[in-house]
Amino acid sequence: MSDSKFFDGLPSFFSGAPSFSTSEQRLFFPAAPRVDHFPVSLPYPISKGTSFFHPSAEWLMSIDLKRQVSLVSLRDMFRSEPLRAHVIFEQCFELYEQSFPDPNEISSAHEIVAAIREESTHFDVVALIEGGRVLGARHLILLDIGVPELGPFVVGEHMYVDRSERRRGIGKTLVSRTEDLMRSWGVRVAISEQNDPDAMSPELLALDESSGITAAQRRKFWKSQGYEGIDAPYVMPPISEDKEPVYHLRIAIRRLDPSFPDSISTEAFVGMLRAYHSSWVDHADSNPYTVALYERLLREHPEGVRIVDLESRRVCLRQDDFV
Ligand SMILES: CC(C)(COP(=O)(O)OP(=O)(O)OC[C@H]1O[C@@H](n2cnc3c(N)ncnc32)[C@H](O)[C@@H]1OP(=O)(O)O)[C@@H](O)C(=O)NCCC(=O)NCCS
Repeated sequence: MSDSKFFDGLPSFFSGAPSFSTSEQRLFFPAAPRVDHFPVSLPYPISKGTSFFHPSAEWLMSIDLKRQVSLVSLRDMFRSEPLRAHVIFEQCFELYEQSFPDPNEISSAHEIVAAIREESTHFDVVALIEGGRVLGARHLILLDIGVPELGPFVVGEHMYVDRSERRRGIGKTLVSRTEDLMRSWGVRVAISEQNDPDAMSPELLALDESSGITAAQRRKFWKSQGYEGIDAPYVMPPISEDKEPVYHLRIAIRRLDPSFPDSISTEAFVGMLRAYHSSWVDHADSNPYTVALYERLLREHPEGVRIVDLESRRVCLRQDDFV
């Protein structure tokens, strides 16, 4: 589907309307279908575009006096140096699998590479490397639904640091450097799904801890990096047909622009979720999980969703809410 409406109002760095490869699009990044039975009219498009960086962008930085590391875009590298990109991606994927032990929360290597290579979307794996070795990485999606109060926004999907390198400031560096990038794209706000220890069973907490960090420590990490919480229920729809929905995640938010308000209109927030979910849900406007979630948010938060302390309690959803 190629629809020029999708590009209306996008900032100038979205360079032109790309052509879509329908097969790859369906694999991981389907376009959001418009259907009549969606609860309210949300005319927001899913953003399309080309690349995050100038090709071959690789930035040298020093994270302390002794180490020189580079930040690389796998999206660019797959185009300019595909062999090197594969080697780096394999290391990233290994760390990703070790860092997120719940199979319902992760995609396959095939799906991630397809998403990185997809021209029509802005998905990237940004890795911090030292020599040829990956120290950590962050997965990012840049979206724009054409809402002036939001502007372009980023969903930070997963971030991980090699276990042997943790507590040395690498996570903090990845966050701050990727946030510098976001600011350079005109992004005022980033969201991410984060494990909420208050919503997790003892079994899930133990599974999570096998990654080398507890859910409460993960939350402390994000809080220390300036992340706040959205005061609303959430469910992550299944990543693929063989996976389950995830109920123990919370939407966290990072206000990169200090003038960003303390709440977001629910329509805009649902628009953000819908654009993000459409990255992997075939029909976000008819999927039972996304539709029930969007309807509930619109019904229960008529005055908008509030931005609150990341450690504050909120209503959590369960399977019973969807049957
Ligand atoms: C979360 C993670 C990315 C942090 O990376 P890191 O390189 O160890 O983080 P940093 O060294 O930059 O830590 C920055 C601050 O976060 C906090 N923090 C990080 N890890 C922590 C832990 N295990 N316990 C308590 N606080 C922690 C501390 O305040 C730390 O500062 P300090 O070391 O000066 O006290 C890493 O633990 C990881 O990969 N975990 C598995 C995957 C994951 O949980 N990803 C995040 C969810 S998407």
